[in-house]
Amino acid sequence: MDKRRRIDRSLALYARAKEHIPGAAQLISRRPTRAALGVSPIYAQRSKGCRIWDVDGNEYIDWHSGVGPIVLGYCDDEVDAAVCEQIRRGTVTSILDETQVLLAEELVRLIPSAEMVRFCKGGGEACAIAVRIARGFTGRDRVLFCGYHGWHDWYLAANLGGEHLANHLFNGIEAIGVPAALEGTAAPFPYGDLDALERLLARGGDEVACIIMEPMRSEEPPAGYLEGVRALADRYGVVLIFDEVSSGFRIALGGVQEYAGVTPDLSVFAKAISNGYPLGAIVGKKAYMAGVEQMFISSAYWDDAIGARAALVTLRALQERGCIPHFHRVGTLFRERINEEAERVGLRAACAGSAAHPNIRFEVERPEDLKKVQTLFVQENARRGVLLSTGLFLNGSHDEEAVDITGRAVGETFSVIAQALAAGCLDEALVSPVQDESFRRQVL
Ligand SMILES: Cc1ncc(COP(=O)(O)O)c(C=O)c1O
Repeated sequence: MDKRRRIDRSLALYARAKEHIPGAAQLISRRPTRAALGVSPIYAQRSKGCRIWDVDGNEYIDWHSGVGPIVLGYCDDEVDAAVCEQIRRGTVTSILDETQVLLAEELVRLIPSAEMVRFCKGGGEACAIAVRIARGFTGRDRVLFCGYHGWHDWYLAANLGGEHLANHLFNGIEAIGVPAALEGTAAPFPYGDLDALERLLARGGDEVACIIMEPMRSEEPPAGYLEGVRALADRYGVVLIFDEVSSGFRIALGGVQEYAGVTPDLSVFAKAISNGYPLGAIVGKKAYMAGVEQMFISSAYWDDAIGARAALVTLRALQERGCIPHFHRVGTLFRERINEEAERVGLRAACAGSAAHPNIRFEVERPEDLKKVQTLFVQENARRGVLLSTGLFLNGSHDEEAVDITGRAVGETFSVIAQALAAGCLDEALVSPVQDESFRRQVL
Protein backbone atom coordinates (compact mmCIF):
# COMPACT_ATOMS: atom_id res chain seq x y z
CA MET A 1 0.00 0.00 0.00
CA ASP A 2 1.12 3.54 -0.76
CA LYS A 3 2.42 5.11 2.42
CA ARG A 4 3.65 8.31 0.77
CA ARG A 5 0.36 10.16 0.83
CA ARG A 6 0.72 13.91 1.06
CA ILE A 7 -1.90 16.13 2.63
CA ASP A 8 -0.40 19.54 1.83
CA ARG A 9 -3.64 21.13 0.66
CA SER A 10 -5.47 19.87 3.76
CA LEU A 11 -2.78 21.35 5.99
CA ALA A 12 -2.82 24.68 4.15
CA LEU A 13 -6.61 24.91 4.54
CA TYR A 14 -6.28 23.98 8.21
CA ALA A 15 -3.79 26.80 8.77
CA ARG A 16 -6.28 29.23 7.18
CA ALA A 17 -9.19 27.77 9.17
CA LYS A 18 -7.40 28.33 12.47
CA GLU A 19 -7.29 32.08 11.70
CA HIS A 20 -11.07 32.41 11.44
CA ILE A 21 -12.75 29.29 12.88
CA PRO A 22 -11.99 28.60 16.55
CA GLY A 23 -11.12 24.89 16.82
CA ALA A 24 -11.35 24.65 12.99
CA ALA A 25 -14.37 22.31 13.21
CA GLN A 26 -17.86 22.65 14.68
CA LEU A 27 -17.94 19.07 16.07
CA ILE A 28 -15.15 18.46 18.56
CA SER A 29 -14.71 14.90 17.28
CA ARG A 30 -13.86 16.30 13.84
CA ARG A 31 -11.05 18.50 15.17
CA PRO A 32 -7.85 17.59 13.34
CA THR A 33 -6.05 17.44 16.72
CA ARG A 34 -8.20 14.40 17.53
CA ALA A 35 -6.85 12.42 14.58
CA ALA A 36 -3.20 12.02 13.58
CA LEU A 37 -2.38 15.64 12.81
CA GLY A 38 0.03 15.93 9.89
CA VAL A 39 -0.92 12.52 8.49
CA SER A 40 -4.72 12.12 8.63
CA PRO A 41 -6.61 13.91 5.87
CA ILE A 42 -8.42 17.03 7.13
CA TYR A 43 -10.61 18.23 4.27
CA ALA A 44 -12.76 16.00 2.07
CA GLN A 45 -13.23 16.68 -1.60
CA ARG A 46 -15.96 14.08 -2.11
CA SER A 47 -17.32 10.86 -0.67
CA LYS A 48 -19.23 7.84 -1.91
CA GLY A 49 -20.28 4.63 -0.15
CA CYS A 50 -17.61 3.95 2.48
CA ARG A 51 -14.92 5.97 0.71
CA ILE A 52 -13.66 9.53 1.11
CA TRP A 53 -11.35 11.40 -1.30
CA ASP A 54 -9.47 14.27 0.31
CA VAL A 55 -8.57 17.62 -1.25
CA ASP A 56 -5.09 16.26 -2.04
CA GLY A 57 -6.58 13.49 -4.18
CA ASN A 58 -5.98 10.60 -1.74
CA GLU A 59 -8.60 7.86 -1.43
CA TYR A 60 -9.54 6.32 1.92
CA ILE A 61 -11.84 3.63 3.25
CA ASP A 62 -13.69 5.32 6.07
CA TRP A 63 -15.09 3.53 9.13
CA HIS A 64 -16.45 6.53 11.00
CA SER A 65 -19.48 7.12 8.76
CA GLY A 66 -19.43 10.87 9.31
CA VAL A 67 -19.17 10.21 13.11
CA GLY A 68 -22.49 8.38 12.96
CA PRO A 69 -24.96 10.03 10.59
CA ILE A 70 -24.09 8.00 7.50
CA VAL A 71 -26.07 4.78 7.87
CA LEU A 72 -26.55 3.72 4.24
CA GLY A 73 -23.30 5.06 2.80
CA TYR A 74 -22.01 8.43 1.66
CA CYS A 75 -23.95 10.09 -1.18
CA ASP A 76 -26.57 7.37 -1.35
CA ASP A 77 -28.16 7.53 -4.82
CA GLU A 78 -31.72 6.97 -3.64
CA VAL A 79 -31.62 9.46 -0.76
CA ASP A 80 -29.80 12.08 -2.79
CA ALA A 81 -32.23 11.78 -5.71
CA ALA A 82 -35.17 12.31 -3.32
CA VAL A 83 -33.42 15.29 -1.73
CA CYS A 84 -32.69 16.84 -5.15
CA GLU A 85 -36.31 16.37 -6.12
CA GLN A 86 -37.39 18.02 -2.87
CA ILE A 87 -35.04 20.93 -3.53
CA ARG A 88 -36.66 21.46 -6.91
CA ARG A 89 -40.14 21.50 -5.28
CA GLY A 90 -39.12 23.72 -2.36
CA THR A 91 -37.52 23.10 1.03
CA VAL A 92 -38.83 25.82 3.35
CA THR A 93 -41.93 27.84 2.49
CA SER A 94 -44.26 29.94 4.62
CA ILE A 95 -46.61 26.96 5.00
CA LEU A 96 -45.93 23.29 5.75
CA ASP A 97 -44.77 20.30 3.69
CA GLU A 98 -46.54 16.94 3.82
CA THR A 99 -43.24 15.06 4.25
CA GLN A 100 -43.23 15.64 8.02
CA VAL A 101 -46.66 14.03 8.32
CA LEU A 102 -45.48 10.95 6.43
CA LEU A 103 -42.28 10.78 8.48
CA ALA A 104 -44.13 11.16 11.80
CA GLU A 105 -46.41 8.28 10.78
CA GLU A 106 -43.41 6.11 9.85
CA LEU A 107 -41.63 6.82 13.16
CA VAL A 108 -44.81 5.99 15.09
CA ARG A 109 -44.98 2.71 13.16
CA LEU A 110 -41.34 1.81 13.85
CA ILE A 111 -40.51 3.03 17.36
CA PRO A 112 -42.22 1.51 20.43
CA SER A 113 -42.28 4.75 22.49
CA ALA A 114 -43.51 6.90 19.58
CA GLU A 115 -47.11 8.10 19.59
CA MET A 116 -46.33 11.72 18.70
CA VAL A 117 -43.25 13.33 17.19
CA ARG A 118 -41.53 16.71 17.05
CA PHE A 119 -38.66 17.54 14.73
CA CYS A 120 -35.54 19.65 15.03
CA LYS A 121 -32.10 19.63 13.41
CA GLY A 122 -29.65 17.78 15.66
CA GLY A 123 -29.12 15.38 18.53
CA GLY A 124 -28.07 17.79 21.28
CA GLU A 125 -30.95 20.06 20.37
CA ALA A 126 -33.36 17.11 20.51
CA CYS A 127 -32.06 16.19 23.99
CA ALA A 128 -32.54 19.77 25.20
CA ILE A 129 -36.12 19.69 23.91
CA ALA A 130 -36.84 16.34 25.58
CA VAL A 131 -35.49 17.62 28.90
CA ARG A 132 -37.61 20.78 28.54
CA ILE A 133 -40.69 18.64 27.91
CA ALA A 134 -39.95 16.50 30.98
CA ARG A 135 -39.41 19.56 33.16
CA GLY A 136 -42.61 21.11 31.83
CA PHE A 137 -44.59 17.92 32.36
CA THR A 138 -43.41 17.25 35.93
CA GLY A 139 -42.89 20.81 37.17
CA ARG A 140 -39.52 19.60 38.53
CA ASP A 141 -36.05 20.89 37.65
CA ARG A 142 -33.44 18.22 38.37
CA VAL A 143 -32.13 15.85 35.71
CA LEU A 144 -30.27 12.56 36.18
CA PHE A 145 -28.27 11.56 33.13
CA CYS A 146 -25.96 8.84 31.89
CA GLY A 147 -23.92 9.29 28.73
CA TYR A 148 -23.32 12.08 26.27
CA HIS A 149 -26.23 14.36 25.44
CA GLY A 150 -24.87 17.37 23.54
CA TRP A 151 -23.58 20.83 24.38
CA HIS A 152 -26.54 22.64 25.94
CA ASP A 153 -26.62 24.42 29.31
CA TRP A 154 -28.84 21.85 31.02
CA TYR A 155 -26.14 19.16 30.44
CA LEU A 156 -22.91 21.12 30.93
CA ALA A 157 -24.40 22.44 34.19
CA ALA A 158 -23.29 19.08 35.62
CA ASN A 159 -19.71 20.38 35.64
CA LEU A 160 -20.45 23.52 37.63
CA GLY A 161 -19.81 21.79 40.92
CA GLY A 162 -17.03 19.35 39.88
CA GLU A 163 -15.82 17.01 37.14
CA HIS A 164 -19.12 15.20 36.74
CA LEU A 165 -18.86 14.84 32.98
CA ALA A 166 -15.47 13.13 33.10
CA ASN A 167 -16.77 9.59 32.64
CA HIS A 168 -19.59 10.57 30.33
CA LEU A 169 -17.79 12.89 27.94
CA PHE A 170 -14.15 13.65 28.74
CA ASN A 171 -11.96 15.22 31.38
CA GLY A 172 -11.32 18.86 31.92
CA ILE A 173 -14.46 20.42 30.47
CA GLU A 174 -15.07 23.75 32.10
CA ALA A 175 -18.69 24.88 32.14
CA ILE A 176 -17.65 28.24 30.70
CA GLY A 177 -20.65 30.42 29.93
CA VAL A 178 -23.13 28.16 31.71
CA PRO A 179 -25.14 30.11 34.34
CA ALA A 180 -23.83 29.38 37.84
CA ALA A 181 -27.44 29.32 39.00
CA LEU A 182 -27.82 25.93 37.26
CA GLU A 183 -25.40 24.24 39.68
CA GLY A 184 -26.99 21.11 41.14
CA THR A 185 -29.64 20.77 38.43
CA ALA A 186 -27.99 17.90 36.52
CA ALA A 187 -26.26 14.88 38.06
CA PRO A 188 -24.74 11.81 36.41
CA PHE A 189 -25.32 8.20 37.32
CA PRO A 190 -23.04 5.28 36.39
CA TYR A 191 -24.24 2.91 33.67
CA GLY A 192 -25.26 -0.56 34.80
CA ASP A 193 -25.53 0.26 38.51
CA LEU A 194 -29.18 0.25 39.60
CA ASP A 195 -28.30 0.75 43.27
CA ALA A 196 -26.45 3.97 42.48
CA LEU A 197 -29.44 5.29 40.54
CA GLU A 198 -31.79 4.30 43.33
CA ARG A 199 -29.63 6.09 45.91
CA LEU A 200 -29.84 9.29 43.83
CA LEU A 201 -33.61 8.97 43.56
CA ALA A 202 -34.04 8.14 47.23
CA ARG A 203 -32.28 11.42 48.08
CA GLY A 204 -34.68 13.88 46.43
CA GLY A 205 -36.41 11.86 43.73
CA ASP A 206 -39.39 14.16 44.10
CA GLU A 207 -37.29 16.95 42.56
CA VAL A 208 -36.17 14.90 39.57
CA ALA A 209 -37.92 15.66 36.27
CA CYS A 210 -36.26 12.99 34.17
CA ILE A 211 -33.73 10.27 33.75
CA ILE A 212 -32.05 10.70 30.36
CA MET A 213 -29.66 7.99 29.26
CA GLU A 214 -27.97 6.31 26.34
CA PRO A 215 -29.59 2.88 26.69
CA MET A 216 -26.65 1.20 24.92
CA ARG A 217 -23.76 2.09 22.70
CA SER A 218 -21.34 -0.67 21.86
CA GLU A 219 -21.82 -3.17 24.69
CA GLU A 220 -25.01 -5.05 25.56
CA PRO A 221 -26.91 -3.68 28.59
CA PRO A 222 -26.56 -5.94 31.64
CA ALA A 223 -29.50 -8.36 31.99
CA GLY A 224 -32.47 -6.64 33.63
CA TYR A 225 -30.74 -3.25 33.83
CA LEU A 226 -32.97 -1.23 31.52
CA GLU A 227 -36.06 -2.91 33.01
CA GLY A 228 -34.78 -1.85 36.45
CA VAL A 229 -34.32 1.76 35.34
CA ARG A 230 -37.84 1.72 33.92
CA ALA A 231 -39.22 0.45 37.24
CA LEU A 232 -37.32 3.11 39.23
CA ALA A 233 -38.58 5.89 36.95
CA ASP A 234 -42.13 4.65 37.50
CA ARG A 235 -41.67 4.37 41.26
CA TYR A 236 -40.44 7.98 41.56
CA GLY A 237 -42.77 9.50 38.94
CA VAL A 238 -39.79 10.49 36.79
CA VAL A 239 -39.94 10.77 32.98
CA LEU A 240 -37.65 8.20 31.35
CA ILE A 241 -35.89 9.43 28.19
CA PHE A 242 -33.74 7.20 25.98
CA ASP A 243 -31.16 9.13 24.00
CA GLU A 244 -30.86 7.00 20.85
CA VAL A 245 -28.90 9.57 18.84
CA SER A 246 -26.01 7.13 18.39
CA SER A 247 -27.77 3.78 18.80
CA GLY A 248 -30.82 4.57 16.66
CA PHE A 249 -31.33 2.68 13.38
CA ARG A 250 -28.20 0.55 13.78
CA ILE A 251 -29.13 -1.90 16.55
CA ALA A 252 -32.77 -2.30 15.47
CA LEU A 253 -35.12 -0.20 13.37
CA GLY A 254 -37.13 0.64 16.48
CA GLY A 255 -33.99 1.48 18.47
CA VAL A 256 -32.51 -0.15 21.55
CA GLN A 257 -35.96 0.13 23.10
CA GLU A 258 -37.25 -2.39 20.56
CA TYR A 259 -34.14 -4.57 20.86
CA ALA A 260 -34.24 -4.60 24.68
CA GLY A 261 -38.03 -4.63 25.01
CA VAL A 262 -38.05 -1.64 27.38
CA THR A 263 -40.16 1.36 26.38
CA PRO A 264 -39.20 4.82 27.65
CA ASP A 265 -41.62 7.75 27.90
CA LEU A 266 -39.72 9.94 25.45
CA SER A 267 -36.86 9.18 23.06
CA VAL A 268 -34.49 11.18 21.00
CA PHE A 269 -33.15 10.30 17.54
CA ALA A 270 -30.87 12.16 15.10
CA LYS A 271 -27.72 11.25 13.16
CA ALA A 272 -28.48 8.00 11.30
CA ILE A 273 -32.15 8.90 10.85
CA SER A 274 -31.47 10.83 7.63
CA ASN A 275 -28.14 9.62 6.19
CA GLY A 276 -26.33 12.93 6.57
CA TYR A 277 -29.04 15.55 6.07
CA PRO A 278 -29.71 17.43 9.31
CA LEU A 279 -32.67 16.14 11.32
CA GLY A 280 -33.47 15.37 14.92
CA ALA A 281 -36.65 13.81 16.28
CA ILE A 282 -38.20 13.73 19.75
CA VAL A 283 -40.79 10.98 19.98
CA GLY A 284 -42.93 9.94 22.90
CA LYS A 285 -46.16 8.93 24.44
CA LYS A 286 -49.15 11.21 23.85
CA ALA A 287 -49.48 11.86 27.57
CA TYR A 288 -46.13 13.71 27.50
CA MET A 289 -46.04 15.01 23.94
CA ALA A 290 -49.52 16.51 23.66
CA GLY A 291 -48.61 19.27 26.14
CA VAL A 292 -45.79 20.44 23.86
CA GLU A 293 -48.39 22.45 21.96
CA GLN A 294 -48.56 24.78 24.97
CA MET A 295 -44.76 25.10 25.30
CA PHE A 296 -42.54 27.53 23.43
CA ILE A 297 -40.43 25.09 21.43
CA SER A 298 -40.09 26.62 17.99
CA SER A 299 -37.56 27.32 15.24
CA ALA A 300 -37.75 28.35 11.57
CA TYR A 301 -35.66 25.56 10.05
CA TRP A 302 -37.32 22.76 11.97
CA ASP A 303 -40.06 22.58 9.31
CA ASP A 304 -37.57 22.23 6.46
CA ALA A 305 -38.41 19.36 4.16
CA ILE A 306 -34.91 18.19 3.23
CA GLY A 307 -34.09 16.35 6.45
CA ALA A 308 -37.60 14.89 6.58
CA ARG A 309 -37.48 13.72 2.95
CA ALA A 310 -34.01 12.24 3.47
CA ALA A 311 -35.23 10.45 6.61
CA LEU A 312 -38.29 9.01 4.91
CA VAL A 313 -36.18 7.51 2.13
CA THR A 314 -33.42 6.42 4.53
CA LEU A 315 -35.86 4.56 6.79
CA ARG A 316 -37.42 2.83 3.78
CA ALA A 317 -34.00 1.89 2.40
CA LEU A 318 -32.87 0.52 5.78
CA GLN A 319 -35.82 -1.86 5.67
CA GLU A 320 -35.75 -2.76 1.97
CA ARG A 321 -31.99 -3.36 1.91
CA GLY A 322 -31.95 -5.39 5.12
CA CYS A 323 -29.36 -3.12 6.70
CA ILE A 324 -29.71 -4.33 10.29
CA PRO A 325 -28.71 -7.94 9.39
CA HIS A 326 -26.06 -6.48 7.06
CA PHE A 327 -24.49 -4.55 9.97
CA HIS A 328 -24.50 -7.73 11.98
CA ARG A 329 -22.86 -9.79 9.25
CA VAL A 330 -20.19 -7.28 8.14
CA GLY A 331 -19.56 -6.02 11.68
CA THR A 332 -18.98 -9.57 12.92
CA LEU A 333 -16.57 -10.17 10.04
CA PHE A 334 -14.77 -6.92 10.87
CA ARG A 335 -14.38 -7.83 14.55
CA GLU A 336 -13.10 -11.30 13.71
CA ARG A 337 -10.61 -9.96 11.15
CA ILE A 338 -9.18 -7.29 13.49
CA ASN A 339 -8.84 -9.84 16.29
CA GLU A 340 -7.10 -12.30 13.93
CA GLU A 341 -4.62 -9.60 12.89
CA ALA A 342 -3.89 -8.72 16.53
CA GLU A 343 -3.31 -12.36 17.36
CA ARG A 344 -1.11 -12.91 14.30
CA VAL A 345 1.11 -9.97 15.27
CA GLY A 346 1.02 -10.78 18.98
CA LEU A 347 -0.36 -7.37 19.97
CA ARG A 348 -2.64 -7.02 22.96
CA ALA A 349 -5.52 -5.42 21.09
CA ALA A 350 -9.14 -6.52 20.87
CA CYS A 351 -12.13 -5.55 18.80
CA ALA A 352 -15.41 -6.01 20.69
CA GLY A 353 -18.84 -4.49 21.13
CA SER A 354 -21.95 -4.54 18.98
CA ALA A 355 -21.44 -5.46 15.33
CA ALA A 356 -22.89 -2.15 14.12
CA HIS A 357 -20.76 -0.03 16.45
CA PRO A 358 -17.66 -1.97 17.52
CA ASN A 359 -14.66 -0.63 19.41
CA ILE A 360 -10.97 -1.47 19.46
CA ARG A 361 -9.02 -1.50 22.71
CA PHE A 362 -5.32 -1.74 23.43
CA GLU A 363 -3.66 -3.05 26.55
CA VAL A 364 -0.33 -1.47 27.44
CA GLU A 365 2.08 -1.98 30.34
CA ARG A 366 2.48 1.72 31.01
CA PRO A 367 -0.78 3.76 31.10
CA GLU A 368 1.04 6.78 29.62
CA ASP A 369 1.60 4.77 26.42
CA LEU A 370 -2.09 4.32 25.68
CA LYS A 371 -2.76 7.66 23.95
CA LYS A 372 0.46 7.25 21.98
CA VAL A 373 -0.57 3.80 20.79
CA GLN A 374 -4.02 5.06 19.85
CA THR A 375 -2.51 7.96 17.88
CA LEU A 376 -0.04 5.64 16.16
CA PHE A 377 -2.97 3.39 15.23
CA VAL A 378 -4.78 6.27 13.51
CA GLN A 379 -1.56 7.55 11.92
CA GLU A 380 -0.47 4.23 10.43
CA ASN A 381 -3.99 3.38 9.23
CA ALA A 382 -4.27 6.77 7.50
CA ARG A 383 -0.92 6.21 5.80
CA ARG A 384 -2.38 2.99 4.41
CA GLY A 385 -5.59 4.61 3.16
CA VAL A 386 -7.87 3.64 6.04
CA LEU A 387 -9.65 6.09 8.33
CA LEU A 388 -10.09 4.09 11.51
CA SER A 389 -9.63 4.94 15.16
CA THR A 390 -10.77 3.02 18.22
CA GLY A 391 -14.51 3.62 17.76
CA LEU A 392 -16.43 3.15 14.52
CA PHE A 393 -19.88 3.07 12.96
CA LEU A 394 -20.85 0.65 10.21
CA ASN A 395 -22.92 1.74 7.26
CA GLY A 396 -24.77 -0.16 4.56
CA SER A 397 -21.94 0.19 2.03
CA HIS A 398 -19.27 -1.48 4.16
CA ASP A 399 -18.68 -4.88 2.60
CA GLU A 400 -16.31 -7.85 2.56
CA GLU A 401 -13.87 -6.01 0.29
CA ALA A 402 -13.68 -3.05 2.68
CA VAL A 403 -13.11 -5.45 5.58
CA ASP A 404 -10.36 -7.24 3.66
CA ILE A 405 -8.49 -4.07 2.58
CA THR A 406 -8.82 -2.75 6.13
CA GLY A 407 -7.69 -6.04 7.64
CA ARG A 408 -4.48 -5.95 5.62
CA ALA A 409 -3.80 -2.32 6.54
CA VAL A 410 -4.56 -2.88 10.23
CA GLY A 411 -2.31 -5.96 10.23
CA GLU A 412 0.60 -3.77 9.07
CA THR A 413 -0.34 -1.05 11.55
CA PHE A 414 -0.42 -3.58 14.40
CA SER A 415 3.09 -4.72 13.39
CA VAL A 416 4.38 -1.14 13.55
CA ILE A 417 2.81 -0.71 17.00
CA ALA A 418 4.11 -4.06 18.29
CA GLN A 419 7.63 -3.27 17.10
CA ALA A 420 7.54 0.25 18.56
CA LEU A 421 6.33 -1.10 21.91
CA ALA A 422 8.93 -3.87 21.96
CA ALA A 423 11.74 -1.43 21.11
CA GLY A 424 10.43 1.26 23.48
CA CYS A 425 10.37 3.78 20.63
CA LEU A 426 6.74 4.90 20.41
CA ASP A 427 7.82 8.55 20.35
CA GLU A 428 10.09 7.96 17.37
CA ALA A 429 7.32 6.13 15.48
CA LEU A 430 4.90 9.02 15.94
CA VAL A 431 4.93 11.69 13.26
CA SER A 432 1.80 13.23 14.74
CA PRO A 433 1.39 14.88 18.14
CA VAL A 434 -0.49 12.68 20.59
CA GLN A 435 -4.25 13.07 20.05
CA ASP A 436 -6.31 15.30 22.27
CA GLU A 437 -8.45 13.23 24.57
CA SER A 438 -11.34 11.77 22.63
CA PHE A 439 -14.77 11.07 24.04
CA ARG A 440 -14.51 8.88 27.05
CA ARG A 441 -17.84 7.17 27.33
CA GLN A 442 -19.27 5.45 30.28
CA VAL A 443 -21.78 3.79 28.01
CA LEU A 444 -19.44 1.95 25.70
C1 LIG B 1 -26.04 9.90 22.46
C2 LIG B 1 -25.84 11.24 21.85
N1 LIG B 1 -26.63 12.26 22.22
C3 LIG B 1 -26.49 13.48 21.69
C4 LIG B 1 -25.52 13.73 20.74
C5 LIG B 1 -25.39 15.10 20.17
O1 LIG B 1 -25.88 15.10 18.85
P1 LIG B 1 -25.49 16.28 17.85
O2 LIG B 1 -24.02 16.22 17.64
O3 LIG B 1 -26.29 15.99 16.59
O4 LIG B 1 -25.94 17.56 18.50
C6 LIG B 1 -24.67 12.70 20.34
C7 LIG B 1 -23.63 12.94 19.35
O5 LIG B 1 -22.68 12.18 19.23
C8 LIG B 1 -24.83 11.42 20.90
O6 LIG B 1 -24.03 10.40 20.56
